[in-house]
Amino acid sequence: MNPDAVLRCLVVDDESHLRSILLRLLTGEGFRCREAAGGREALEALEREPADLVISDIRMPGMDGLELLAQIRARWPETAVVMVTAVSDVASATSCLTQGALDYVAKPFQVEDVQARVRQALDKRRLILENRDYQRNLERKVEAQARHIGELFLHGVQSLAHALEAKDRYTRGHSSRVADYTVAVARALGLDPAVVEELRVGAELHDVGKIGVRESVLNKPAPLTDEEYRHIMEHTVIGERILTPLVGDRPRILQMVRSHHERFGGGGLPDGLRGGAIPLPARIVTVADAFDAMTTGRAYRPARTPEVALEELRREAGAQFDAAVVGAFDRAFRDLTLLPQAPAAASADRRAAAPAAAPPSR
Ligand SMILES: [Fe+2]
Ligand SMILES: [Fe+2]
Repeated sequence: MNPDAVLRCLVVDDESHLRSILLRLLTGEGFRCREAAGGREALEALEREPADLVISDIRMPGMDGLELLAQIRARWPETAVVMVTAVSDVASATSCLTQGALDYVAKPFQVEDVQARVRQALDKRRLILENRDYQRNLERKVEAQARHIGELFLHGVQSLAHALEAKDRYTRGHSSRVADYTVAVARALGLDPAVVEELRVGAELHDVGKIGVRESVLNKPAPLTDEEYRHIMEHTVIGERILTPLVGDRPRILQMVRSHHERFGGGGLPDGLRGGAIPLPARIVTVADAFDAMTTGRAYRPARTPEVALEELRREAGAQFDAAVVGAFDRAFRDLTLLPQAPAAASADRRAAAPAAAPPSR
């Protein structure tokens, strides 16, 4: 509230001489005053223009002061209300206060008394409004801070994942390429833009659990033993565990991390889900992951061309991959020159998502 602004006051009383006294008094106090002879008239006046202060008699024919008070509290909660009541009517005076009037003036009143009550009521109103603003600001600040902290965590985890990739020249850029493919497929499937953005984050983070995998296993330039394979495949559940406190409210991201090594036809990891039981975000990132795995190759096998990799996706549609997702990938990359640039080098870490025809993927 601007303290320099002229405060607006509405005087409500069925007795015109009392209204004139109050009008004179409050105008003298610097208010811009209007008057109403009853509750209904007062509401009409407030509908035309709200007031900062309403000073109203209680006993009036038609809508009385108590009903007017209730209406004002419900519709203009920022308006201060001071009631005017007969000295003998203490009961209704107190009930006014419990219903949200800020003060009351007893009739017959002294001018000084009215001035003091009105000032007090406006002071209370100012405190209430300031307190409300403060609360709102505080809530906004806390929310912004929480969002910021969440993003910082997420960036921290993301850079850890990238640092991990940087150690292995073959997997460099894997997460961002998988994110690019995922976004293109999600768009081709017509998903909502907000969902697409969430899937981008999920794809960036899909292998984050590899932070918890032994480096010797991660970078082994040869086929893995069964124990090593089981260990590396734990990156799905480790990733989910790392991210749950950060993105627990964004289940799609967690689904992508946990379920990107499931197989559409069943028998994948970690849960052996099948078909539609595998969440769509995971089915999308699985295809994106496999395509990048194939086109970046392995230490013991050169990268396949995008055309060959795409053929492989089509062949595995319905078995390892959701055919609808493969179809969307096909549509998104009808023009293969649009593909993000993948490194030509072969990778030791590409067994991860290679199709079923290859040895167990990792
Ligand atoms: Fe993975
Ligand atoms: Fe991956």
